[in-house]
Amino acid sequence: MDVSGGFEKVKIFIDSAKLDEIEQVYSAGIVDGVTTNPSLIKKAVDEMKRNGEEITIDEYLRRILLTARGTPVSLEVTEYEYEKMVDQGKKLFKMFNPVANNVYIKIPIDTVFDEDDERRFDGLKTIRSLSKAGIPVNCTLIFTPEQALMAAKAGAKIVSPFAGRIDDYIRTINKIPFKKPDYFPADGWKSKGDEILADNGVVSGIDLVRQIVRIFRTYGIKTEVLAASIRNARQAREAALAGADIATLPFYVIKELLMHYKTQEGMKRFMDDVVPEYAGLTLPKTEMYATKKS
Ligand code: E4P
Repeated sequence: MDVSGGFEKVKIFIDSAKLDEIEQVYSAGIVDGVTTNPSLIKKAVDEMKRNGEEITIDEYLRRILLTARGTPVSLEVTEYEYEKMVDQGKKLFKMFNPVANNVYIKIPIDTVFDEDDERRFDGLKTIRSLSKAGIPVNCTLIFTPEQALMAAKAGAKIVSPFAGRIDDYIRTINKIPFKKPDYFPADGWKSKGDEILADNGVVSGIDLVRQIVRIFRTYGIKTEVLAASIRNARQAREAALAGADIATLPFYVIKELLMHYKTQEGMKRFMDDVVPEYAGLTLPKTEMYATKKS
């Protein structure tokens, strides 16, 4: 039976490579995919080592794919040159897609380290080659609407604008102190001089998502917009309001989606008010059996 409510467009992915976190959110039935990146894999591997777990990364990734069966799991390449990225993308797909038929390959939009680098088109060329080979691509490290447009034109199935990191960047260049869970609201932040802070016309991470969604909807582009680098529940809500197809959320943000002080307080009060007559209500054994069967 489909108990999902039939939503096709409101998708939540978990942004984690930690198997226990992935298992927990999948068991709650509210998650539609997984995103990993080299830093998240490092965190998971470091934790495994600390706990003395003897499992190969190969076996570990297979377990993630099986847990997420039926939903996409993004695995990122670690190469940065065109041929090597294509080879690695194909290798990862060949190794892991047969496990549960749910692998997306993550490719950075642009892999140069400085302005004069010759490899300016390597990301796009890789997206094109993998897409042509039938491998679904999630294009990562998107910080401008035009990068998202280029990725979509090259054939990416998903583009991942990094909402939190663009907020970090706008704060850093404007010397505004911040902590990781901070974010800018969709319409941005005013400077002391009352001017809205921006990075080349993008006033917040959510504004970046919003502009990409607007361009894609205007031109009927089918590539999905995945709001990445989300730092708190309110930012996840704003990503939904901005029309993102998907938001990928760290485990702590997924938990935060459920939290409200009054819910907790209400729970305690209800539990205090339970009368034994109500708590003790039972069905005769025969009827319990009939209910289970129907
Ligand atoms: C997901 O695809 C991204 O790699 C991830 O959301 C980045 O998040 P961070 O900015 O918190 O590292």
